[in-house]
Amino acid sequence: MGQRVRKAVLPVAGLGTRFLPATKAMPKEMLTVVDRPLIQYAVEECLAAGIDEFVFVTGRNKHALEDHFDIAYELEAMLESRKKHSELKQTRDAGIKPGNAVFTRQQEPLGLGHAVWCARHWIGREPFAVLLPDELTISSPTCTAQLIAAHDKTGGSVIAVMDVPREQTKSYGIAAVKMVKDGLAEITGLVEKPKPEEAPSTLALIGRYVLLPEVFDHLDKHETGAGGEIQLTDALAKMIGGQPFHALRYSGQRYDCGSRIGFLEANVAVALHRADTAAETRALLGRLLKD
Ligand code: G1P
Repeated sequence: MGQRVRKAVLPVAGLGTRFLPATKAMPKEMLTVVDRPLIQYAVEECLAAGIDEFVFVTGRNKHALEDHFDIAYELEAMLESRKKHSELKQTRDAGIKPGNAVFTRQQEPLGLGHAVWCARHWIGREPFAVLLPDELTISSPTCTAQLIAAHDKTGGSVIAVMDVPREQTKSYGIAAVKMVKDGLAEITGLVEKPKPEEAPSTLALIGRYVLLPEVFDHLDKHETGAGGEIQLTDALAKMIGGQPFHALRYSGQRYDCGSRIGFLEANVAVALHRADTAAETRALLGRLLKD
């Protein structure tokens, strides 16, 4: 029913001030969870969902992101000459086909809605995914694949939500919903970062969206909301009552890598989960916790 989702917008212009000094000369999306930068998890999540065209909305000091998805000739030649085949494969498998990524700059930090709007010409008039790379989601099928499956059924926009403790609503976009069926609920309200006492629910947006292009018509107006920023959540709120619009309750793993503890948790959890690191990590944690 839904038109095929082929493209993803990856907003990566943020300064990463919570990770200074690590992010002084390096994009926060290049911070690694075990051995992959956050941005690669987001790209791999898309590829696993059948998306292979990418719009990176970048800012100053984000060159490393572009380089990461390029061929590293000297490094590859060196690995080849030293017969380091598995490392060579890791280096080559960053995964974006030639010509399938564009990097456009958000010149001013005017908000997430503005960042997504910066991608409008590259998306055109088709449904598209948005992934915030500092939210790491791990599940099978991926969170984005789950959203696309729901979009295929409903033909409309679908956003991923998860329950958070009420005192945390002020850190998230929050959805009001009705009629939950197979984890899908109709969205009746959306508000960006409400105070706990004003939040319509505790269902938080977790940075994964499949959106119809009509969202650009609202973002075109450049209206500001919470924090004086052009909010994606506000533009989405204007879409309620138009085409189908659902929240999907995501049930996989999700780590808030925009916070130091969330990032640390992601590293430990992924290391415990991966076959090549699980046993050693478990032993290591045991040793550390004993002291
Ligand atoms: C953004 C969105 C918010 C969402 C959150 C998820 O906020 O505006 O709706 O819940 O990402 O991480 P930010 O964390 O960029 O302030």
